[in-house]
Amino acid sequence: MRKTVLVTGANGLLGNAIFRLTKGQGRLGIIATGRGERRPSVPEAIPYTSCNLEDEQSVKTMLEDVKPDVIIHGAAMTQVDACEQTPDVCMRANVDATRYLLKHAPAHTRMVFVSTDFVFDGTKGMYRETDAPNPISVYGESKLLAEKEVINSGRSYAILRTMLVYGYAPELSRTNIVLWVVDSLKNGKNIRVVDDQFRGPTLVDNLANACLLASDSHNNSVYHISSSDYISMYDFARKIADVWNLDDTLISPIKSSELGQPAARPPKTGFVIDRAMEELNFRPISIDEGLRQMYKRLTNNH
Ligand SMILES: NC(=O)c1ccc[n+]([C@@H]2O[C@H](COP(=O)([O-])OP(=O)(O)OC[C@H]3O[C@@H](n4cnc5c(N)ncnc54)[C@H](OP(=O)(O)O)[C@@H]3O)[C@@H](O)[C@H]2O)c1
Repeated sequence: MRKTVLVTGANGLLGNAIFRLTKGQGRLGIIATGRGERRPSVPEAIPYTSCNLEDEQSVKTMLEDVKPDVIIHGAAMTQVDACEQTPDVCMRANVDATRYLLKHAPAHTRMVFVSTDFVFDGTKGMYRETDAPNPISVYGESKLLAEKEVINSGRSYAILRTMLVYGYAPELSRTNIVLWVVDSLKNGKNIRVVDDQFRGPTLVDNLANACLLASDSHNNSVYHISSSDYISMYDFARKIADVWNLDDTLISPIKSSELGQPAARPPKTGFVIDRAMEELNFRPISIDEGLRQMYKRLTNNH
């Protein structure tokens, strides 16, 4: 049976990767929703409906119209510092919007909710799904509250926690580490990158694939999704320079405390991804392979 899959956050990085990955797959009826008008990241072939997810009535009307079998809910306020500075706005975008989707979707609709490593405090590293969350930022707190809404909704769900997602899509509202490093080094700009934060960077295509695998599954569970490697942000930036053959002497290390960012970042995250590999058949893409794939995509005119 053809499934109707509603993708929220359609104008974002993940939305675009899902559309690329499902191109030509007739078994899925993909419907995109984003805030405001369709942007170039949403192909014309995909039906698009504009909806501000913070407006409950708009969410209700949209869901009555679309009647999705699955919602891949990637929309979120993702700017960590902005969340810290305007917590009310962050809670509305990340928690209230999720609650409205859960409340007004048809009873059978499966929720695939995209969450974050920022639900952890980052003291331990290499987190399993069974480790206790302890967010240290408003953004992390908001995503954890949204996770609880999903779990307590009583409907079919998968929560995919991911981290440091990178990739390319046209006209993004915000950049990501790979685009920032490449752009800066190409322009001969010196950059400082923290060497005391460790992550498992995730190619957005790999995350998009995990979302589709979770859509097809019937398990109600939390899954950790990232590359299987673990690296400091500084070393990751140097790897990016290496793949793009750019001058890595422009990159210097800095400590998180020297940056003075409004929101605290967990020092060491990194995921154990065994559950996703065993239950969803998720296959992680290594950091080297992910960067090579992105390089190819960018140099082949996207
Ligand atoms: N990127 C990462 O490193 C990372 C790491 C861990 C987890 N995640 C999670 O992964 C998911 C996807 O991330 P991403 O990188 O694709 O984020 P993104 O590029 O920032 O896209 C998020 C999208 O959500 C939309 N949005 C925000 N508030 C909305 C609202 N009230 N109504 C409708 N749409 C709204 C934004 O719209 P506008 O374009 O209009 O702003 C944006 O297009 C998010 O849930 C994020 O929390 C991301």
